[in-house]
Amino acid sequence: MFNFIKSLIGAESYLGIDIGTTSIKIAEISMGQIRPKLSNYGILESYGHLDRLNDAIQTNSLKIAEKETAELLKLVLAKLKPKTNYASVSVPSFSAFITLIELPKMSDADTAKTVSFQLSQYIPLPASEVAVEWFKVGEKSDEKGFDKQEILITSIPNEQIKRYQNVFNLAGLKLKSLEIESLSLIRAVAGADPTPTLLVDIGARSTNIAVSEKGFLKYNYQTDFSGGSLTQAIASGLNINVRRAEELKKQKGLLGGRGDYELSTLIFPLLDAIISEANRARENYDKNNEHKIERIILSGGGANLLGVDKYFEKQMNLPAVVGSPFSKIDYPPAIDPFVKDLGPTLSVAIGLGLREFI
Ligand SMILES: Nc1ncnc2c1ncn2[C@@H]1O[C@H](COP(=O)(O)OP(=O)(O)OP(=O)(O)O)[C@@H](O)[C@H]1O
Ligand SMILES: [Mg+2]
Repeated sequence: MFNFIKSLIGAESYLGIDIGTTSIKIAEISMGQIRPKLSNYGILESYGHLDRLNDAIQTNSLKIAEKETAELLKLVLAKLKPKTNYASVSVPSFSAFITLIELPKMSDADTAKTVSFQLSQYIPLPASEVAVEWFKVGEKSDEKGFDKQEILITSIPNEQIKRYQNVFNLAGLKLKSLEIESLSLIRAVAGADPTPTLLVDIGARSTNIAVSEKGFLKYNYQTDFSGGSLTQAIASGLNINVRRAEELKKQKGLLGGRGDYELSTLIFPLLDAIISEANRARENYDKNNEHKIERIILSGGGANLLGVDKYFEKQMNLPAVVGSPFSKIDYPPAIDPFVKDLGPTLSVAIGLGLREFI
């Protein structure tokens, strides 16, 4: 977590802002009577990307179109009318460098020295161009019985941070902190649960695959096979335009009846590609850890694909559920009928907002 405003006393609520490829999600979180509550939320979807693939809010080239993004943010904020302008933003994993290293067990001071000495090996940019953070995320004994500690090193290019600061300034927001999206997601849907969990966030442009244990991020991968790939496969398989393909996907998912058989046969190969990446992450984790991955939590808009949890469960032979960030917070009763559908989309934004309260 990269903090920019350190002494903040008394802000009543915070905005968690997730700027995705195709949508902006905002969750306003405040403290309820006994636990944090979602006081408001906003989602702005941009459909431009369906017609023109380059028309995305966030692109893989580490760039966000600053002015345009700020304008879109202002649109959502005008509707949301938040009670605060303090906001945290999530950074997609593809904009960050995330590495897990193992070091012998040693004092915190020695660990700090060793990590900073070795940093340049793990970060492909000069130290002056990145903001680096590291955390101890676990301890274990290796095969020879030596005590080891696991250190997660994360870094974000300064250039990227500056872009977010610009966007937020333009939108009239105060950027309080910036966090890699997997960390927000873990807080929202896995919490400090000791069960090693595979988190699969199926977005529009990429799928983020993370492993969490006791609330810590242990591994992070990503793949370009994503919700958008499913739509593309349907569009070319049925020879229809992408908008129609997107509608069909959302309407029928994998659960279409007779006659919709073709739709699921078009979707399966792409889902299998995501699953094969998820399996790679799982194998990597299981190989290095005594306590194996026991469950899968799905999130991102793609987790709304009807039947996707059962499909993951069957193909990976692990229990799979769609993550529900709303189980950890209070929310206005009026949104009760929608929380199931909103959960996957809002997970990262809620996790970010929650950071100030748990
Ligand atoms: N009901 C649904 N069924 C199937 N797919 C859905 C459904 N609702 C949304 N999606 C898909 O979810 C994707 C958007 O998810 P999300 O909002 O998490 O993406 P994003 O955060 O903008 O993208 P990224 O994380 O890749 O930058 C789109 O591909 C969309 O088609
Ligand atoms: Mg996303």
